[in-house]
Amino acid sequence: MMRKPRTIKTVSAMRTLSRKARAEGKRIALVPTMGYLHQGHITLAQKARKMADLVVVSIFVNPIQFGPGEDLDRYPRDLKGDLQKLAAAGTDYVFTPSAGEIYPLGYQTHVEVENLSKGLCGAFRPGHFRGVATVVAKLFNIVQPDLALFGEKDFQQLRVVERMVKDLNFPVRIVAVPTVREPDGLAMSSRNSYLSASERKYAASLSHALFLAQNLVKKGETDPKVLTECAQKSIAHNPGTHIEYIEVRDDKTLEPVARIDRPCRMLLAVWEGKTRLIDNVRLNPKTS
Ligand code: PAJ
Repeated sequence: MMRKPRTIKTVSAMRTLSRKARAEGKRIALVPTMGYLHQGHITLAQKARKMADLVVVSIFVNPIQFGPGEDLDRYPRDLKGDLQKLAAAGTDYVFTPSAGEIYPLGYQTHVEVENLSKGLCGAFRPGHFRGVATVVAKLFNIVQPDLALFGEKDFQQLRVVERMVKDLNFPVRIVAVPTVREPDGLAMSSRNSYLSASERKYAASLSHALFLAQNLVKKGETDPKVLTECAQKSIAHNPGTHIEYIEVRDDKTLEPVARIDRPCRMLLAVWEGKTRLIDNVRLNPKTS
């Protein structure tokens, strides 16, 4: 077991540390999280360890990316467990500011990535990506990382952050990490802990639906409508299952596509009871 990471709670302490590290020529990697860490997060931290001299993981349940009636108050937390897992992953610092430290009284500045934030999850969670872009911009300014790692699990978020970095000239390299899954295919998520035993069983069908579409594309299907219909049908229907969206989009721009004639993504959001789950896969057009 490696040394426990040091916990940093204030913006000024974090700034002092990163300024010193940079002056020593160290490469800093940041992994932004909301905690309750699972193997998906840990994979990001392990990859960061291989790519940088100093690894900072932030744990901050960002209130401004939750809408009214969402799960901010019940979002799961386990700082002690998180620190143990990060020690094993070789993380140097854990930045865990309070909400007041990040959004002091009078706070009023936000970052909006306009088009990319509109469809998919953005259509059902107004203000969500504004909250994400704002906190990520602040974390970049506070930690001053050379690189930052994000999971493909939250694919629209990844594209929003990449766009923000480009548009606002942040000197940060964004590293995308493939989705880590449970043995039955379910994408790992802190929110999986909300699922009842039966919901958990049904939840596996989300990734199966995506893999089915992926296989159809491999065999030559190019019609997004056919693919979304097949995926929809193959999702197991528990009485509590509600499909929010299943869509095929361009992999880079996330614009709608009429045909799979370039790299695309199938993305979905499905409710199992009171739990909202998201997942996505890449669709590569058949080449021959
Ligand atoms: P959170 O949901 O805690 O996720 C933190 C990071 O872990 C994100 O980049 C997410 O894509 C990645 N991640 C989550 N599950 C994953 C999985 N199964 N496989 C691979 N990566 C996975 O996403 C957020 O927090 C927040 O929106 C944040 C970016 C921290 C801003 O508040």
